[in-house]
Amino acid sequence: MTEIRTPGEGDLEAIKRVDGRAFGHKWTDEDFARQRSVIELERFRVADDHGSIVGVAGSFGLQMTVPGGAAVPTGGVTWVAVASTHRRQGLLTRLMADVHADIEARDEPLAALTASEGAIYERFGYGIATQRRMTVLDRTRAQMRPGLESDPGAVRLVEHDDPALVDELRSRWERIRRLRAGEIDRSEAWFAAQIGDRGAGATWVLHDDGFACWKIVQHWNEGHAAHEVELLDLAAATPDAHVALWRTVTSIDLVGSVRSRLLAPDDPLPYLLADPRALRTYELNDFVWCVPLDVALCFAARSYGTDDDVVIECDGARYRVGAGGAKRVRSRPDLVAERSALGPLLMGVAPTTLAMGRRLTARSAEALRRADALLTAHPMAHGMSGF
Ligand SMILES: CC(C)(COP(=O)(O)OP(=O)(O)OC[C@H]1O[C@@H](n2cnc3c(N)ncnc32)[C@H](O)[C@@H]1OP(=O)(O)O)[C@@H](O)C(=O)NCCC(=O)NCCS
Repeated sequence: MTEIRTPGEGDLEAIKRVDGRAFGHKWTDEDFARQRSVIELERFRVADDHGSIVGVAGSFGLQMTVPGGAAVPTGGVTWVAVASTHRRQGLLTRLMADVHADIEARDEPLAALTASEGAIYERFGYGIATQRRMTVLDRTRAQMRPGLESDPGAVRLVEHDDPALVDELRSRWERIRRLRAGEIDRSEAWFAAQIGDRGAGATWVLHDDGFACWKIVQHWNEGHAAHEVELLDLAAATPDAHVALWRTVTSIDLVGSVRSRLLAPDDPLPYLLADPRALRTYELNDFVWCVPLDVALCFAARSYGTDDDVVIECDGARYRVGAGGAKRVRSRPDLVAERSALGPLLMGVAPTTLAMGRRLTARSAEALRRADALLTAHPMAHGMSGF
């Protein structure tokens, strides 16, 4: 029988092959070395069929922000792949059980992931916590409203190989990641790997309270230049930094459009533009899925919209959650939730949305109204960082 075990250094080549085949990706040694720098092998599991590796799954040790700004230790499930010769034999299920047990053993109360397909992870209790929005901004129409001028010296260029870049980004990100539920920490190694992956073709800019990064794809159009900016990061701790960075991005010469996958659904950019329709959203997909492994610990970490509390029942266990914290109780439930509703509730998705999506039922319309006021998060949860 195929064995699930913790891999060693000697399994790395096989892990790389299983992953590469499953995702249709060719790893170069250089790319893989950067990935290796952020992988903790003891958090990984492989499926070993008589000496050949046919499946892999692992996790990163992350901190995920919950509503209110606290960061919860989180197992960020990653590198999930099963060889096509061994599909639908229950290997993912076994790998996930072991990876979740490892996350719990590390006292990380939350598990999160981004999914290659939408139908895989609900069976493991995951629910959609954040969305990924794909946008394109017509640069020629993207004028800022009058009165939003920013200090011309507020944003400066920095070279990708500047040795100070990692620290500059990290210190800003440490402030920014706490401002929205759904964001994760980015370690020094993570930033270093990302800067390396993006390479010399990426432009980085810093503001005292934020940063941005982009690449340009050239479209000369026979002398009518309309290059495309692929905006890879734009992160701001203050409204002024947000305006200054967008002003910089929309001022790049020869550019026709700015494409990005990082704007929150409630991003204020349309309100800053004289013509808000210069920004078009062309896709809105699920992004981060999560599942509380320790429900009480997760819900005790977040803040609430009112001084109220509600009792949520899930899988026969009842929890009173609200301003007074979160604990197991025996009281009558206000909400009865499927497990896959708990992650979205934790991150502030409105209970009404989940009730209409048939992931929970409320005792009464009044209980649902109270739950909405208590649990819905502002700003809405959103994460820019994949893992
Ligand atoms: C997705 C993947 C890991 C599934 O592995 P697997 O070992 O075949 O999964 P299991 O046999 O444990 O399946 C468990 C259940 O999930 C279902 N399932 C598995 N993959 C699914 C998919 N892509 N879509 C819908 N259901 C899926 C199975 O049908 C099974 O359902 P059942 O319990 O009702 O029979 C594998 O197909 C794969 O490597 N795909 C390519 C890489 C990838 O997408 N990885 C995920 C990255 S986030």
